[in-house]
Amino acid sequence: MRIFVINGPNLNMLGIREPDIYGTLTYKDLCEYIKNAAAELCIEVEIFQSNSEGALVDIIQSAYKKADAILINPAAYTHTSIAILDALKAVALPVAEVHLSDITKREQFRAFSYTSLVAEKSFMGFGKEGYRMALVYLSNINR
Ligand code: DQA
Repeated sequence: MRIFVINGPNLNMLGIREPDIYGTLTYKDLCEYIKNAAAELCIEVEIFQSNSEGALVDIIQSAYKKADAILINPAAYTHTSIAILDALKAVALPVAEVHLSDITKREQFRAFSYTSLVAEKSFMGFGKEGYRMALVYLSNINR
């Protein structure tokens, strides 16, 4: 099973950005954690990160016929991007949404997620562990 793990804007700044919210884990640490979790689950992962909405749409489209599922943390685009929602609908793959923080317990503008309209499950507020939980969830989906 191959899963595309897609991370949105500013997640490359983990370790530097708002450590009170996101902790001190760097983006490199997060990628290592995801790779180790995937290896334990015998899943193949390809990890992507972009700060650009269009590039994220391109990555999602490239998952068509190449991936069995998508794990996505669209970061701020979660709350704004119909283009990302449409791309996820277009490829029609199982989607799990992950957020390091609990977006329902922060500013009001973060409470709504376009991604949740297509995601089969959302994991939020579990930090890096949410990525592992989403991999476990997606690895158990049978289509
Ligand atoms: C985030 C939450 C978003 O609201 C925010 O814009 C991010 C990160 C999270 O992982 O908690 O950049 O997706």
